[in-house]
Amino acid sequence: MEIKGLEAIDRNKLPTHIAIIMDGNGRWAQKRGLPRIAGHWAGAETLRSIVEFCAELNIKVLTVFAFSTENWKRPQDEVKSILNLLIYYLKKEVDILNKNNIKLMMTGDWQELPPRIREEIKKSIELTSNNTGMILNVALNYGSRREILRACKSISYMVANGKLNPEDIDEKLFKKHLFTADLPDPDLLIRPSGELRLSNFLLWQIAYSELWFCDAYWPDFKKEDLIRAILDYQRRERRFGGLTK
Ligand code: IPE
Ligand code: IPE
Ligand code: MG
Repeated sequence: MEIKGLEAIDRNKLPTHIAIIMDGNGRWAQKRGLPRIAGHWAGAETLRSIVEFCAELNIKVLTVFAFSTENWKRPQDEVKSILNLLIYYLKKEVDILNKNNIKLMMTGDWQELPPRIREEIKKSIELTSNNTGMILNVALNYGSRREILRACKSISYMVANGKLNPEDIDEKLFKKHLFTADLPDPDLLIRPSGELRLSNFLLWQIAYSELWFCDAYWPDFKKEDLIRAILDYQRRERRFGGLTK
């Protein structure tokens, strides 16, 4: 099937790392008179199609925000349903990830989740660990401020134990203590659902990312929306504080 705009993409100027805040599932469901969880299920379908599409486009890293450290404030029922959905998705998705040579990784304090969920995640990571294509990085129980504090703590311990001179703390060293230590910073950050905020996502990493927002709720987000985001990205001039040549 032909996808509108695809041929206009410059394959030599693709973003290496795309990050997406998958937002708007609840409102998508409410608009249809459905329970919020139906929106989360529909959102998982969108994720599947966008993951495959990014791999086809040869994007190197796709990071998606699935559950934040602040999302625990929601009713217990919804939290439980989201986590159950996630397990179901991971289990079912492993074959498709392998078929597309996609390697799964997690960002966030997912090790604090209930053992059943932890084990399932570990298994999925393990089963895709030999893949050499795109990295699908799922931010789960993730909060950026918490990640930064965690890095500060581990660096402080190194200083306290005499293993590090405070003078040697620089951006490169700091980055090594983040969950995303081995990943390049996102080039493009996408947030659907009409909200114009970052909601504690990758605050350190997106210092120079290009931001792109759209009104569609995540379950309605299409490949064409991703193409629009990439085309806009390719028209932008990234200066990183310098001047255009
Ligand atoms: C995003 O959709 C998914 C999670 C935060 C887990 P929401 O559940 O936030 O949907 P809205 O923003 O309420 O519509
Ligand atoms: C951000 O969305 C978190 C995820 C998409 C997982 P939220 O819906 O939690 O963000 P706020 O509450 O609108 O800022
Ligand atoms: Mg939301």
